[in-house]
Amino acid sequence: MTMWKFSGEVAEFYQRYRRGYPAEIFDKLVVEFGLSTEDTALDLGCGTGQLTRSLAARTRSVIGMDPEPDMLAQARKATSGLTNVNWLVGADSDVPALRTLLGRDSLGVVTIGQALHWMDHATLFPALRSLLRPGGGVAVLTNGAPMWLHESSWSKALREYLSGWLGQPLVRTCGAGQEEQDRYRASLEAAGFATGSDVVEYEDEIDLEFVIGAVYSATPEDRLPKPAERAGFEERLSAAISPYAPFVEPVQVRILIGRKG
Ligand SMILES: C[S@@+](CC[C@H](N)C(=O)[O-])C[C@H]1O[C@@H](n2cnc3c(N)ncnc32)[C@H](O)[C@@H]1O
Repeated sequence: MTMWKFSGEVAEFYQRYRRGYPAEIFDKLVVEFGLSTEDTALDLGCGTGQLTRSLAARTRSVIGMDPEPDMLAQARKATSGLTNVNWLVGADSDVPALRTLLGRDSLGVVTIGQALHWMDHATLFPALRSLLRPGGGVAVLTNGAPMWLHESSWSKALREYLSGWLGQPLVRTCGAGQEEQDRYRASLEAAGFATGSDVVEYEDEIDLEFVIGAVYSATPEDRLPKPAERAGFEERLSAAISPYAPFVEPVQVRILIGRKG
């Protein structure tokens, strides 16, 4: 699978401008998998730790695992007060090797937030199943569709501006689309998980700085506007979307559950 580099400045933007998940999500995971302070969690594709830090408050320990050292460095900085988080450099293909470290049936939950589209889920889910204790499971989360894919006027103006800049239409939903969700669910079922799903929805009013930061956090490092070009990029972006302020973003957080019986 082609690897998108969340490196350098992009990791800084990600840490600063990507939302965490609502507390309700973690309450649902606790109920769904019977999580307690006896449990260990794995947050695969943890990035800068948006899920990891909230899991740490509800479990005995959490492993945040990600192949991008710059994302892990930001995650570590943002959670410096937490004593029950371990950060591990690794990708989905490294999960089978965790068996020798952790043993069978050792995890209460594995979360994968906004990251499954980078992974080989057909191979990954069976490998995760052997690591999970009975009653535990996998939670695949998406934290809303990209902010340029909505039908509001400001979102359409942003989409038009960004596709003009990139020279291609913006269509990727990063795992949040129904077709991808159906594919992930079928793959969980093929690996022997009982599946379910849930949604938490809310609206967030954001400002121009947040829009720009979120755009940079979703841009590979080598495609970011060069420092000398950045002010011009931001001015043009502002001119394109400001007539449509306020920027209210609908956030639909989806959870796809795979429970080990
Ligand atoms: C969009 S970020 C998601 C971060 C965080 N989990 C969240 O919910 O906001 C995607 C993360 O997946 C990581 N990633 C990319 N390929 C991966 C792979 N094959 N295995 C595990 N993680 C991967 C990236 O390095 C990046 O940190």
